[in-house]
Parts: sequence; C-alpha cells; structure tokens
Amino acid sequence: MTNLLPLNLLQHLSCPKCLREERETDLLLEEKAVVCSYCSALYPLKEGVIIFEELKQDKKSERLEKVYSAFWEKGNDLFLEQDYNEQNQLLKEWKGYFDNETILDAACGNGRFAKEWVDAKAQGIIFFDISDSIFLCQKQFQQKYPDTPALFLKASLLEIPLKSKSIGFTWCSGTVGLLHDQEVPTKELARITKKNLILGVLTDQTMAGKIYIGLNIIKPIINRINNLNILFKLCGIMAYLMVLSFRVLYFLRLNLSFLPRKSLEKILQDKNNIRRIQCSLFDPMIIPKVIKKSDSFYTEHAKSMNQLMVETKRDYLCDYYLFEEKNIN
Ligand SMILES: C[S@@+](CC[C@H](N)C(=O)[O-])C[C@H]1O[C@@H](n2cnc3c(N)ncnc32)[C@H](O)[C@@H]1O
Ligand SMILES: [Zn+2]
Repeated sequence: MTNLLPLNLLQHLSCPKCLREERETDLLLEEKAVVCSYCSALYPLKEGVIIFEELKQDKKSERLEKVYSAFWEKGNDLFLEQDYNEQNQLLKEWKGYFDNETILDAACGNGRFAKEWVDAKAQGIIFFDISDSIFLCQKQFQQKYPDTPALFLKASLLEIPLKSKSIGFTWCSGTVGLLHDQEVPTKELARITKKNLILGVLTDQTMAGKIYIGLNIIKPIINRINNLNILFKLCGIMAYLMVLSFRVLYFLRLNLSFLPRKSLEKILQDKNNIRRIQCSLFDPMIIPKVIKKSDSFYTEHAKSMNQLMVETKRDYLCDYYLFEEKNIN
C-alpha cells in the first residue's frame, strides 16, 4: 500500500524526535514505515496511516486519545459532512484562503470537513488526530475521494511531525480549547503554517463553551469513571429524559428563550435525536477539564511565531481566529 502515499505531501513530514532537538529532517518511505534520514527513528504505517503516537504523551493526553477513539466509534455516522452547517458557512466565506493550497486539517476527528478541502482543489490534504478516528477518516476519505492526494497521521498537536512553514493553510477547530497545554499547540500550529491558520477554539463566550466549562464542576467525579461504556449509557439516559421533556414542552406550547419552537421541532423530527444528544453530552463529559483563555492568549502565542490575527468570527461552538503570516521581526 506504500505506493499510495503522495510524495508531494511526504516531503513536508519531519521526524518528531529530531524536531525536539530543533533539527528538521526528512522522513523516507519504506515498505511498512517511514524512517528518519538522520536518526533512523521508524514510524510504522498501519492501514494507510503513519503512526507517531508514542512520542511525548502525558496521562491527560492518553485519556483524550482513549475517550475520543470511543466518541468517534460511537458517533461517526451522526457527525458526517452534511451535519456541520454553521462551520460550513464560515468556511465558504474563508474559501479564498485555502483554494489551491496544501491544507492541514489538524485534530480532524473523522474528517468531516473533507468535502470543503476537496472542493477547493487542494494541492494535497494532510489529516491528523491523536485518536483512532484517523483510521475512520482515512477509510472514508479514500472511498469518497480516491483521486485527491492525502496523507493521514496519528499524531499530537503537542508535537506536530511537520516541517516549519510547510503548510499553506491550516485548520484546527474545536480542539485547542480542550487541551491542558494550549500554548504549545498554538505555537506548533503557527510554526508549521506558511500562509494562513484558522484556529477554532471553545471559549467562555460561545454557547458550547459555556456548557463545557459548566460541566467542569462535575468533572472530578466523571473523570474517575474509567469505563466509558458506563459513561456513554449514563449520557443515553440523560438524553432520553431530555427528549421526553422536549416533547412535553412542545405539547404544552411552552417557549424557552434559548430553545425556539423551530429548533425544538427540528430536534423532535430528528430520528436520531436521542443518540445525537447522547453523543453531544458524552463529548463535553469526557474531556478532563476545559481551561478558559482569552483571545489575547492565542493572539500572543501565534504572534511569537510570526502569525498575526486578522479576523475573528463566532458560532455556537467556537470562536474562530484567522491568522496570517507576517514578517514582523
Ligand atoms: C471536539 S473533536 C473536533 C474534531 C474536528 N476538528 C471536528 O471539528 O469535527 C476534538 C478532536 O481532537 C482530537 N485531539 C485531542 N487531543 C489531541 C491532541 N493532543 N493532538 C491531536 N488531536 C487531539 C480528538 O481525538 C478529537 O478527535
Ligand atoms: Zn530523527
């Protein structure tokens, strides 16, 4: 299968071990792995995905990897390309920034933005995620878009195995705000981006961010539950009760300020409503803790890597910061 890896994208890879020592080296393609041309570190190739996972992991990242592998396995079919209307609209407005570029979808989950990148006639797309969702992403992408050059990495935002300024356009949404260390990933994303970076982060300003932060109160209990199936079932019971109360609200024609009748109707008509709410509850529950950071935090760290913030947008989920490479030194 190695001949399927596009060489124009492989040239952007760099050995994480060497990167730690501030040395950018090439990775060479072998039969079932890529190998560092300098230190001979070997990164295996499994089901079309290059595995970098064993590097620089801590206990909290391990939990994120485990819980998101479970999340995407349970919810993949619910969160596909057609389900992301709001972000899709934002990407339409920003399409000019990624038309004909080499695109990186960092912490891509199941790769639900793939269609946007393919429609923009990307020179090539690199997807990476720390969880097993990257295998799903690879499989689904190859089935749908076999002719678009793409590379799939199991890798961490804390140590992105790419050369500095190698990527024309980087997209990372819904992840950096969930991590314990937000400085390193922000700097890493800015480091590897040549032109534009869009960082979509959960903040205390967005609706989803408020929910995530609110749930921090019960996280010390939740995080003791190691059996994710139990946690998922618990979310299922809560989702069932929520849908039941939505039905009562609808029947009684009661109006809630944060849930207009139209949205209520949409939820009740969705045949997957219980499962969808179950997954949406499971997601913020499984994150160990969400830390609040202000805009200036992201702006400052990106700026230290020559990326200047030029625009912001907001949807229910994230605040989006558009950065642009500027020679500011
Ligand atoms: C809320 S999901 C967002 C996924 C995707 N960007 C989307 O919008 O559909 C967060 C994703 O970040 C990934 N993730 C968490 N920590 C990570 C890390 N340190 N490095 C790379 N990916 C990470 C998880 O596995 C998960 O797929
Ligand atoms: Zn090396």
